[in-house]
Amino acid sequence: MTFPKDFMWGGATAANQIEGAWNIGGKGMTITDAATAGTVSEPRYITYKTEDGEPGKTTIFNQLPKGAKRAVIDGYYYPSHEGIDFYNRYKEDIKLFAEMGFKIFRMSISWSRIFPKGIEEKPNQEGLDFYRKVFEELKKYDIEPLVTLFHYDMPVYLEDELGGWSNRELIDLFEKYSEVVFKEYKGLVKYWLTFNEINSSLLMRTFIPNYPNEMVCKAMQILHNQFVASARAVRIAHEVDSNMVVGAMLGGVCNYPLTCNPDDVLYCQKHWQEDCYYCMDTMARGEYPYYAQRLWKEYDMVLDTEEQDFIDLKEGKVDMITFSYYSSGCVTKDESAEKAKGNFTSGAKNPYLKYSEWGWSIDAQGLRYILNELYGRYQLPLMVVENGLGAIDKLEEDNTIHDPYRIEYTKEHIKAMNDAIEDGVNLIAYTYWGCIDLVSASTGEMKKRYGFIYVDRNNDGSGTLKRYKKDSFDWYKNVIKSNGEEL
Ligand code: BG6
Repeated sequence: MTFPKDFMWGGATAANQIEGAWNIGGKGMTITDAATAGTVSEPRYITYKTEDGEPGKTTIFNQLPKGAKRAVIDGYYYPSHEGIDFYNRYKEDIKLFAEMGFKIFRMSISWSRIFPKGIEEKPNQEGLDFYRKVFEELKKYDIEPLVTLFHYDMPVYLEDELGGWSNRELIDLFEKYSEVVFKEYKGLVKYWLTFNEINSSLLMRTFIPNYPNEMVCKAMQILHNQFVASARAVRIAHEVDSNMVVGAMLGGVCNYPLTCNPDDVLYCQKHWQEDCYYCMDTMARGEYPYYAQRLWKEYDMVLDTEEQDFIDLKEGKVDMITFSYYSSGCVTKDESAEKAKGNFTSGAKNPYLKYSEWGWSIDAQGLRYILNELYGRYQLPLMVVENGLGAIDKLEEDNTIHDPYRIEYTKEHIKAMNDAIEDGVNLIAYTYWGCIDLVSASTGEMKKRYGFIYVDRNNDGSGTLKRYKKDSFDWYKNVIKSNGEEL
């Protein structure tokens, strides 16, 4: 195996999926705090109150009725409220990460712990203190934090009162938030990511049937505002500390043409441009790519921009590219082809691949493919910051958990990373997603477990929250110890 000596092995999480303590320590409510738990077949809902105070719910991919505001309503269960209680158990969890030999740990800061509504003059000291304690605990074990500034948990005030990322005001508010945390954690945090899976808003059009054109236009405006906010954050990080490394984070949508019919091949190329490169080209090269004009024309989009935006984009190019990778998808013009699911990949089912219990394809070679694609295009250091298998695990009576399927999945993906490194790709880190069981983002379940560490918590919120090591815990520990030699 050819992993470089200083390769950073680790795990990844996000605040709203682990912390809990949703209204503790001065934290404001985020949009995730109004999201209920679903299952693979039952959707997650957002609960709200209408202008007249009537309670209601809609699925997480839908818009709220006009004038409605997200609300926590009696009788519903909200998994983010307790998460896996990382807020209180971070020391125990970090100790377990250290025992596995983690060199890096990806986590996110919840904006609303720092600015509860997002608009306050001064930051919330208790929130700042909490993350400082977590970073110091990581430092104790020489684990490098990798911190995402925005991992889907928007302060609810910004979404419901200010209209969310469609509103340019958020650019300034995000700039302020990033400046505060960069200054606060200077010397403690070197690696930062601005927006988790920044391409996600545009990807909705590919997996929500009959997605309206106006929503695609809204997504492009949201993205523009996020690109500018991200660029400004990159610039500030470099001003605060020239050692800070700030990356873009992409939902790694790896698409293949379903057939060699040129219609499918061209359609697939279009997907790569719109699903991945539209975002990465802009963030890594500092300007919109050539095909952006075609895309805007296709949807009759007129972007709301200011001259300074384009200067910001140029001055705030990212230092590295990071992405999530779970599965690949197939693209075809043939509407009768059998459909498949995936993490933002939709489209047709690949007859050469197996699928997980949640219907996501299992395709380690796709990881080698996307690594080469991204490195070939940008020649920037890469990190795989999410990858893993969500599966049903069984806690045995003797408190063991046997998860050979997870070991198998991870082993194959590590081999694929090794192949990519041999291809010449500059891959510097791997943070396995959900290294400790956490709340699933898409379904809100606990049953979809990714972790090397089992958390005794069930879909309905029952369970002791006790942590147990799965078989994969010792396996991953040995992978790290041998720097990928022993799989
Ligand atoms: C990514 C997100 O899309 O996929 C994570 O960044 C999420 O937050 C992960 O948890 C896996 O998806 P899920 O739905 O299985 O939790």
